Amino acid sequence: MGLKPATNPDVEASTIELNIDGKTVTAKDGVSLYDVISSTGKIIPAMCYHYTFDPFGSCGMCLVMQEGKKAPVRSCTAKATAGMVIRTEGDDLFQARKKAVEKHLSVHPLDCPVCDADGHCELQDMAFQHGVTNLANAKQKFIPEDTRSLVLDFNMNRCIACAECINVCKDVLMIDALQFMKKGGFNQVVAKGDLPLACEFCGDCLAVCPVGAITNKFSKYLYKPWQMKKTTTTCNYCGDGCQMYVETKDTEVIRVTSPLSWKNKWGDRADTAKGHGGLCVKGRFGFEYIDSPTRLKRPLVRKGNQLVEVPWLEAMHAAVDRFADIRKKHGPDAIAGLITARCTNEELYLFQKLMRVAFRTNNLDSSARYGHMNFVQASKLALGIGRTTNDWEDLTKAKAVLVIGSNLTETNPLTSVRIKEAIRVYKAQVMVFDSAVTNLGKLGSHPFLIKPGTEGLVIDGLVKATVDLDLVDEESVKKHPQAFAALKSAVGSISLEQVAAKTGLTAEQFKEAASIFAESPRSIILCAEGIVRRPNGYQNVLKLVDLAWITGKLGRPGCGVNTVTEEPNEQGAVDMGVAPEFLPGLASFDDQTMRDKLAKAWDATLPTVGSGAHLTEILNRCRSGHIRALYVVGENPLATLPASMEVRAALDRLELLVVQDPFLTETGQMAHIVLPATTSAEKDGTFTNLEGRVLRVRQGMDAIGESVPDWQILTALANGMGCQWEYESANDIQSEIMKLLPGYYNLGQPKKLTPNADHYLSNGYTASAAGRYKTARSESTRPFTLLMGQLLYHSGKLSTLAPGLMKIAPNTGRIRMNAADMERLGLQDGAMVKLTSDRGSLQIGVQVDQSVAPQTCFFPEHFNEPPVKDLMSVHVDAITGVPSFKRTGVTIEKV
Ligand code: SF4
Ligand code: SF4
Ligand code: SF4
Ligand code: FES
Repeated sequence: MGLKPATNPDVEASTIELNIDGKTVTAKDGVSLYDVISSTGKIIPAMCYHYTFDPFGSCGMCLVMQEGKKAPVRSCTAKATAGMVIRTEGDDLFQARKKAVEKHLSVHPLDCPVCDADGHCELQDMAFQHGVTNLANAKQKFIPEDTRSLVLDFNMNRCIACAECINVCKDVLMIDALQFMKKGGFNQVVAKGDLPLACEFCGDCLAVCPVGAITNKFSKYLYKPWQMKKTTTTCNYCGDGCQMYVETKDTEVIRVTSPLSWKNKWGDRADTAKGHGGLCVKGRFGFEYIDSPTRLKRPLVRKGNQLVEVPWLEAMHAAVDRFADIRKKHGPDAIAGLITARCTNEELYLFQKLMRVAFRTNNLDSSARYGHMNFVQASKLALGIGRTTNDWEDLTKAKAVLVIGSNLTETNPLTSVRIKEAIRVYKAQVMVFDSAVTNLGKLGSHPFLIKPGTEGLVIDGLVKATVDLDLVDEESVKKHPQAFAALKSAVGSISLEQVAAKTGLTAEQFKEAASIFAESPRSIILCAEGIVRRPNGYQNVLKLVDLAWITGKLGRPGCGVNTVTEEPNEQGAVDMGVAPEFLPGLASFDDQTMRDKLAKAWDATLPTVGSGAHLTEILNRCRSGHIRALYVVGENPLATLPASMEVRAALDRLELLVVQDPFLTETGQMAHIVLPATTSAEKDGTFTNLEGRVLRVRQGMDAIGESVPDWQILTALANGMGCQWEYESANDIQSEIMKLLPGYYNLGQPKKLTPNADHYLSNGYTASAAGRYKTARSESTRPFTLLMGQLLYHSGKLSTLAPGLMKIAPNTGRIRMNAADMERLGLQDGAMVKLTSDRGSLQIGVQVDQSVAPQTCFFPEHFNEPPVKDLMSVHVDAITGVPSFKRTGVTIEKV
């Protein structure tokens, strides 16, 4: 405990011995003396110290006596050396520390009654602990509060110049948005250049500030810390699954805080490889949707053209009667269901059970179909696991990370912090292949800006370079000589020069990247939206598996192929069997052993093998009139999918559309029955994060209005349809899942699964390999590529319901372009253009964005005004059914 990791985890640091308070202590050489002292369990005061970053040494609290020195030394900045004799206690040290507290308090405003940190302030604690009672001579600084930031206020009268805010931002997050500046005679913390703060707004600086110098604009002056109920739960925005504290008062969410805090400062520096406990802007400041006035409070039933509020009983009777009637008249396959991966595992499990047992249909899908399913199916086929192979610690300690098609800082900010630590602490080589200038690209050792849509070709080039340079791992390929021969022949005709020209790289760059990846002892591939949400996503994941296989990076510790998930429980959705091709536990729908087990446990007959429809098939069948009733839980296909998928026509044709959601969505407005569900802050359950860690979701407040957790509505609906479910809590559902899937709830630890490609490589691989490397890039004749994607400050459409996030990142209604392209087209910021794709055209403003690569333009997928998504064509993967609709060729003309 308390020791900094060696920057090279492969080399064991030498050990030393020193004497602390009369006891011999063994420590790693070269670490902070403070860390060694705290590793013995002794906690000495330390106001500027935090285990997540390097010691700064400003507060003067961590004083100890070192034999041979006259004055006390600051233990945080002193290095532990062999033979040191240290004393940590004694009246002299107490008095010296007391003096340090008095010094800080002598220039502190003592406005504690109106300070948000009152009762949660390290300076108060230290004053109390050291008996500082004489404050008569305190001087005021009278520094005006800096309220220019959208999120944080800076009251520098209260600042103790500990630099924790600056250090966490610079060292841990590698953002470096803050600095000290001499202003008005005082050293103050300001945003870089003393401009209004424009950063990622993660709020980690707020979390580590030990006093009330940085305050949260959203909760300032609302309540004192002790008046709020604090609930530990899991963030509902992305698949990183950050732990957070939701602080509430009755049915009001006041603020969200993180395990990262000045209070949580004594830890093992090496433990940060598993996460530093911080949050991103969405997690910390995106909570206002929970108690939004726009929440649905009562059920609605369509009467004429209107949705009218009705009692729950009436709404449920209407839903049950009409589902039962449609099933009776047209059979079970006239019913289908869609659910969001923002629901808990328990709800997702119940949803598929309801569809299969109560409605007796296999027409069901979740939002994992928007991309994650490409990864799941490829990983299940090739590696037998159906999910990522590595956890955060593996990512952090990797020596080489190949990031392809992933703007990780925007989509999964805390996973990106893991890669930042890999770069900063563990000196990893990070290769970033992307068609945008990404934040990780800027920080990584090898940024490769590629032409949009060439991710698949990039993998071809990497595999080809690996084979040509004979970078293959003999042991891995020798086991499967036929498969390797097939792969060699598949890439035989590929010309590295041609691939380089098409992707915008050079053959040398391919060779360099392939060598780094193959030669590193721990290499990890991380692919995301640019692979899994694009055409050929499934095949491209299989090609990444090829790369990992031939370089010996499958099944070895710290190596593997990974993805990230945009919604919090996409992995849970597939694990729970919410897909026509999967049963719970990722068993194939035709797996007879699992079918028998479920049939027995559920006392039901499962829908027949071969039946069922996924998302796009469901919509097609709605349009053709085969599906007559659709149950939509938390999904909003009308707002998500482009016009070419004709969602409105599909929903219009339905005899019954039941939408269950905390809000009245666009899809909900078309419904016959709307059922108000709670958010994750008002229910219990679990999410499975992208590492495969099952994390608790805990109820932090009473439900808003008459809204009810999804699992309760699902239970009531099933019972209305004739089932006899007796779940009274999320725990009851968990008990059932535990029996069916032993080991799934793995006490919050990522479940280590060993990928094994042996079966895949010796069964049908040779026949399929050739086809994979023939995928030509779908060329558009239009000069620009329009990309839709995620912003750091948003997640799906949910975040647009959080006013704070909308204040930080409003919909500008403009496409973003590179300055050089704008200049070439004679466009100023704000100019109007006509944007034309094969699907139509619209007029839209433009804005400059230097992260956008030349000849591309970008529009955030969270917004539909103007309806840029409707310019998109859709490509549905023939094997996985994933619809890709985030990239298209466009023409841009000045109007
Ligand atoms: S909010 Fe985050 S990014 Fe912004 S200054 Fe604070 S720590 Fe840095
Ligand atoms: S603002 Fe807070 S964290 Fe930053 S230097 Fe001042 S007291 Fe320390
Ligand atoms: S959005 Fe993702 S990264 Fe941000 S706090 Fe939530 S889980 Fe963590
Ligand atoms: S903790 Fe060592 S000087 Fe502040």
